[in-house]
Amino acid sequence: MIHKNILITGASEGIGERIAATLVDQGYTVVGTSRRAKPLKAITPRRLNMTPLDVDEDVSVEALYSSLKALDFKPDAIILNAGFGVSGSLEESSTHIAKAQFETNFFGVHRMVHNFMSVLRETHGRLIVVGSISGVIGIPFQGLYSASKFALEGYVDALSLEVAMHGVQVSMIQPGDFNTKFGENREFLEANSASPYEPFASDAINIMSEDENNGGDPQVLADTVVVMLAAKKMKRRYLIGSLSECLVTKIYHFLPYFLREFILRTTYKIPPAK
Ligand SMILES: NC(=O)c1ccc[n+]([C@@H]2O[C@H](COP(=O)([O-])OP(=O)(O)OC[C@H]3O[C@@H](n4cnc5c(N)ncnc54)[C@H](OP(=O)(O)O)[C@@H]3O)[C@@H](O)[C@H]2O)c1
Repeated sequence: MIHKNILITGASEGIGERIAATLVDQGYTVVGTSRRAKPLKAITPRRLNMTPLDVDEDVSVEALYSSLKALDFKPDAIILNAGFGVSGSLEESSTHIAKAQFETNFFGVHRMVHNFMSVLRETHGRLIVVGSISGVIGIPFQGLYSASKFALEGYVDALSLEVAMHGVQVSMIQPGDFNTKFGENREFLEANSASPYEPFASDAINIMSEDENNGGDPQVLADTVVVMLAAKKMKRRYLIGSLSECLVTKIYHFLPYFLREFILRTTYKIPPAK
């Protein structure tokens, strides 16, 4: 089945923007969202049609549902890509910032599922959730981000089983490091030289940012989505990154804890246990 109408969250930049542009090139009609977009008056077929959405807000998701219904746009596939990262030590992260991280990365996905699954049941459509390798491996000083993506892993597995009986397929992409504005848009805890985690937290976060800047071209992810939409049956997971990222992620949960911790300590230059 060829899927013609696509809805993608977070299509203003980075991975979402590239997926949206690639799907338009492939002949799909795409509705993409951004918090900064102006409301849509009409939908132009085989083009990217940007519309406003803040996945943190119930009213915003409900407004998107109503506006697409009024425009008679029924997505055959929805790509839940909107997200951001918080970095800093878990001890020093406020509950407020922890909730903000989950509001977008986890509840943002749930809000979209809650409002749009009825449409996917109707179209026998597909749902693609953008997770992360950080949702498989708990990354130090990016713990809230990891936790939000870990939560999605369980959510997507449960959802997939629930909706398969209605002809809806659910899959998740787990990207490694890709060069986007993700690092620029990351929320840092305020630098505090008196922090018991400095300079190690800042060093680890700098290594993460460097890895992202040297990361892959998001076109690889866009090409993967093209394959996913064309496949008769999507795989449950698409792990996409460098060879070493994919290898470590695949074997991670088979490794004893001392080895897992060795890999992370070495990668992020974290001092050994006292
Ligand atoms: N880059 C990487 O290395 C990497 C690795 C693994 C996973 N990921 C995941 O890939 C996804 C896209 O990240 P990216 O790298 O493309 O980052 P990006 O360049 O910062 O783009 C983030 C996108 O998400 C949207 N967004 C953020 N908060 C939103 C909200 N509350 N409501 C609606 N839209 C929101 C932004 O749109 P507006 O600001 O215009 O609203 C923007 O289009 C995220 O889920 C991220 O966790 C990225």
